[in-house]
Amino acid sequence: MIDLSVNLNKIALIRNSREGDYPSVLAFAETCIAAGCDGITVHPRPDQRHIRPSDVRALAALIERHPQLEFNIEGNPFASPQGSYPGLLALVEETKPHQCTLVPDSNNQLTSDHGFDLTRSGAELEPIIRQLQAWGVRISLFMDPDLEQIRLAKAIGADRIELYTGPYAAAWDQPDTLEALHERYRQAAQLAVDIGLGVNAGHDLNLDNLTRFATIPGLLEVSIGHALTVDALRLGMDSAVRAYKALLAQAR
Ligand code: PXP
Repeated sequence: MIDLSVNLNKIALIRNSREGDYPSVLAFAETCIAAGCDGITVHPRPDQRHIRPSDVRALAALIERHPQLEFNIEGNPFASPQGSYPGLLALVEETKPHQCTLVPDSNNQLTSDHGFDLTRSGAELEPIIRQLQAWGVRISLFMDPDLEQIRLAKAIGADRIELYTGPYAAAWDQPDTLEALHERYRQAAQLAVDIGLGVNAGHDLNLDNLTRFATIPGLLEVSIGHALTVDALRLGMDSAVRAYKALLAQAR
């Protein structure tokens, strides 16, 4: 079955709009765990606009008590430390998540909106991947469904790719574009599987578009935050997580 990793950034974003610890990211993580999610994802950024280093540490400790769960930290390995943000590598070395998803987002980007261009950054990424793997962390690279780029991801030592699904979600109401894109994602995922890369996916996935996307071959994990949090406003977090899990249980 395809794993569901719940991205808790949006809970942190609401918390950060006031002083104090309400809503508690940790309490929402516990609700997601009780509802049967397979993992928790966070995407700390240097400006700490949502997840803070203290959240990463607290979640790592919580997840350690749940051996069936995976902790996934996403972020840009090239972003410099800023204030109490120690940088992605330092956070990963300290908290040792199961997976680290490297993302080429710049500091002023609203959200991740493209995969790596490894013809440009592959050489710089390769030693970083090796270092993170030496700490026992699986490495996934955030990628567009581009066959040549996916071959490069394998060549520089990644364990998995996370396919950036923003364009797929954006084409949801354009059947012809969606059809062509679905085929691109299918081919990209098949190539990744064939050359020994695991396949994750994420961005703008929701209860409408996930059923179709879940037919992509070899998909191991989806990480979902924005839509799931919106669904949680309507349904409650427990029911929202259960709805995504039920959908994934029926996939394929
Ligand atoms: N994957 C990556 C690399 C992301 O940056 C994000 C958003 O933080 C997601 C997945 C989840 O996207 P969404 O919040 O749209 O579900």
